[in-house]
Amino acid sequence: MPVRDLISIRNLSNDSITALFALASEFAADTRKRLPLAHDAVLSTLFFEPSTRTRMSFEAAMLRLGGQVISMADPGASSVAKGETLADTVRIVDSYTDLIVLRHPCEGAAQLAADFADVPVINAGDGAREHPTQTLLDLYTIFQEKGRLAGVTVALCGDLKHGRTVHSLVQGLARFGAQILCIAPEGLELPPAFQQMLAARYGVTVAQYDSFASAPLESCDALYVTRIQKERFATPEAFECVRSSYQVSRDTLALVRPDTIVLHPLPRVDELDYALDGDPRAAYFRQAAYGVPVRMALIAALLGLRDIPLTPEFLAESWQPLDTDVFACANARCITHRELCVQPTLLAREDGARRCAHCEAPVEVACPAS
Ligand code: NCD
Repeated sequence: MPVRDLISIRNLSNDSITALFALASEFAADTRKRLPLAHDAVLSTLFFEPSTRTRMSFEAAMLRLGGQVISMADPGASSVAKGETLADTVRIVDSYTDLIVLRHPCEGAAQLAADFADVPVINAGDGAREHPTQTLLDLYTIFQEKGRLAGVTVALCGDLKHGRTVHSLVQGLARFGAQILCIAPEGLELPPAFQQMLAARYGVTVAQYDSFASAPLESCDALYVTRIQKERFATPEAFECVRSSYQVSRDTLALVRPDTIVLHPLPRVDELDYALDGDPRAAYFRQAAYGVPVRMALIAALLGLRDIPLTPEFLAESWQPLDTDVFACANARCITHRELCVQPTLLAREDGARRCAHCEAPVEVACPAS
């Protein structure tokens, strides 16, 4: 079945991602041009959390394709402030536009939006869960800078617990055959659910380190640095315990090879020294710039403006809705706790595993508090 929505990076097969990259390279040749491709189409950006790069690069991408954009960048200035549900907001915007790009603090929000929209929905970040379009441009950057994805070694550094860019990226890296190292302070490690998924689906075990000094940095082709996600902590005290606990500086770069690139989804706070900006290995601004051609390719493919067949990753497992009306998701950050008009749905797998249809939290395992 062709892909309509991009909720998780698993919605795109490796072949689809490779085809999107070819189209992105075509668009990247001249991103200043306004192409006559999307003149009948309107893209909407619904952002319930702050954003600079993701929202503006989506909007720039649509404008460069010759389309139009409507935007809700401040929910406080919309009917959300009057108590309107996400489901109703999406139903309305669905009738105004051809494609919805949604960012929301709740996990599973993009899936809920896709349930209520007829037009394609793109997940631009749902809480701490996934951020698949960032992964597209992260993988594209590694491919451009290193010439391949298979066999590259990438160290993911920082808040791997809450970082949604990391949660999508580990899946993409594993599928394309990259080696993954995780470097995280104690308490901010990659959640066990993602480690189990990587092992079960792709046979990948990630090596874990708690500092740059203890990690084999000389083996890395890329360091992917992330910010501590202050907004995801349960209390200010919990954030203070890990605040400023790591920084990639000139000293860190002295430990890596001359050809190791430094990536960051941005924004940075204090984890990436400004002194690195002039180093040719600092690839994060090039990475951010790739957001426009990569998102142009995705929009063109989802709207059928270019013949790029998008297929999902093949998953041997099959999840089916379980008929129950007593299910309440154990994940306190799941959208089903915010949208009381929506009945939470339980999915079951043949081997007895169960999960929430929206945030994918396993029902047997309560989500750990931050
Ligand atoms: C990231 C996000 O929103 O998850 N930013 C982005 O989209 N480039 C990373 C972050 O906020 O730290």
